[in-house]
Amino acid sequence: MIRTHVHPTRDAADASVAAELRVLLRAEPRAVLGFATGNTPIGLYRTLAADRAAGRVSLALASSFNLDEYVGLDPEDPRRFGAWMREQLFRHVDLPLARARFPDVDAVDLDAAARAYEAALASAGGLDWLVLGIGRNGHVGFNEPGSSVDSRTRVVELAETTRADAARTFGGAENVPRRAITMGVATILGAKRIRVLAFGAAKAAIVRACLHEPVSERCPATFLRGHPDVELHLDPESAALASP
Ligand code: GLP
Repeated sequence: MIRTHVHPTRDAADASVAAELRVLLRAEPRAVLGFATGNTPIGLYRTLAADRAAGRVSLALASSFNLDEYVGLDPEDPRRFGAWMREQLFRHVDLPLARARFPDVDAVDLDAAARAYEAALASAGGLDWLVLGIGRNGHVGFNEPGSSVDSRTRVVELAETTRADAARTFGGAENVPRRAITMGVATILGAKRIRVLAFGAAKAAIVRACLHEPVSERCPATFLRGHPDVELHLDPESAALASP
């Protein structure tokens, strides 16, 4: 069962999720956190940055694993999720960069790199808390439609809708990478707590599908319904098509 919260505004949703994270980090300063990229978590990351600036939270002992990373971009490319996370979050908080992990997409053997990422996460004890967005096609991380519930961290081909959604960042869909390394669905479901954010009218249909359509590989976000501690944080626009 997904516990669904419809907040009056995005800011209220971000504040609520950030407040939970402050409590968690106070109780478990060494928490292992899972981070997502995309437009959706930007407000949450701003809130965490403000919390850090005000001394309300510390990530000094925490560590993190990002969900995914594009394959094929230059290591210095600002569109890499690693660079994006530094800009949006890491440079504003006290999480040591050495403990902010990403799949090694520069490795010669990408399959081995994906397995190593899964193993590193397991040896860190798994994720205590994971923030997720949802792609318009129901992807979580880069688990596109067709991803199985028992999938683990691996190299994936990106769906056309995903590449179209990223086209603006890359100056055209043809420039968007074709592959990525992503945590698998089973990797994601292994997190102790999953907090999903979805905002705006463009996410209303996929939120409805995630909550009410049959659980299936056609919409990987539906697999979240099998998790014991998952919350969906919405604004009124993204909640518009979901039944109460
Ligand atoms: C991206 C990421 C996902 C993200 C999703 C939605 O491609 N791999 O982790 O949740 O698409 O993106 P946005 O938040 O910009 O709508």
